[in-house]
Amino acid sequence: MAKNYAAFDEAMYHVGFAKKALQGAALAVLPGDPGRVEPLAKTLGEGAQFIASHREYTSWLTRVEGAPVLVCSTGMGGPSVGICLEELARLGITHVIRVGTTGTIQEKINLGDVIINKAAVRLDGTSGHYAPQEFPAVASFSVTGALAQAASSCGAPFHVGVSVSSDTFWPGQERYDSFTGYVPRRFQGSMREWQALGALNYEMETSALFVVSQALGLKAGAVCGVVVKRTQSESVAADDVYLRALAYQIKVVRGAIKILLHIG
Ligand code: URA
Repeated sequence: MAKNYAAFDEAMYHVGFAKKALQGAALAVLPGDPGRVEPLAKTLGEGAQFIASHREYTSWLTRVEGAPVLVCSTGMGGPSVGICLEELARLGITHVIRVGTTGTIQEKINLGDVIINKAAVRLDGTSGHYAPQEFPAVASFSVTGALAQAASSCGAPFHVGVSVSSDTFWPGQERYDSFTGYVPRRFQGSMREWQALGALNYEMETSALFVVSQALGLKAGAVCGVVVKRTQSESVAADDVYLRALAYQIKVVRGAIKILLHIG
C-alpha cells in the first residue's frame, strides 16, 4: 500500500499540527467533543500538554507509563472522522480508540454501562467513499481485545457487539421527537430490525472510523458510554449518567493503552 507520510514539521491543514508535536506517539484516543479532550488527556495520563485547536479538532498530548499518547477530537459524524484519520495516519498514528456516547437499543443494557463495538452497520456516507457497501465495518481484533480485557479487569459493566452508525441523530436512529416528528419510510421500523439482529446501540461515528481505518491500514477500536436507553426513552439522560459512563471509559481506555503498549 502506498504511504504518504508528512514531513516532520509539516502542519496538517485540518488538525493544525505537525508530526514533531506527537513526540513519537503512535496511539490516539479520539473523543467526538473538543471540550472533552483536555479533561480526558489529564485523567488518562500524566504531563498533558496542549498541541492545537482548529475547527472541531482539539489536540493534547499525554503520557501513559511514559509513552506519548495523542488525544484528539473528531467532531460529530463520519466526514470529520475521515479527515481526522487521513491526517493522523500521515503523522504516523497507527492505533486509534474512539471514546464516545451512545444510545442502547437493547433492554438488557443499562444507562451508564459501556459498549465496546466490534463492528458497525454502515448507515453513514463517508465509509462508502472508501470501500464498497459490501465491505464490512470491523474493529481491530487486538484493540478490541485490549478494551474488553481492560473492561473486565476494572469491573466496568460492559457489552461487546455491533453498533448501528447513523449519519443523523433523528431519522437514521428512528427518533420521533424531531422538529417535524416524521421518520422517512426507509427508517420506520428499522430500530426493531436492528434489535432483532442483536445490534446493541446507535451512534454516529464508528462505521466511518472502522472502514476508513481499514482502508488506511490503521488499527481501530471503539468504546462508548450509554447515555440513552431507547427501549424506554428517546432522550439523553442527565449528566450524572454521562459522568458515570465516562469514569468507566477512562479506566477501560487507560487499561487498553497499557495492554497495547506492551504488545508493541
Ligand atoms: N449518540 C447518538 O448518536 N445517539 C444516541 O442516542 C446517543 C448518543
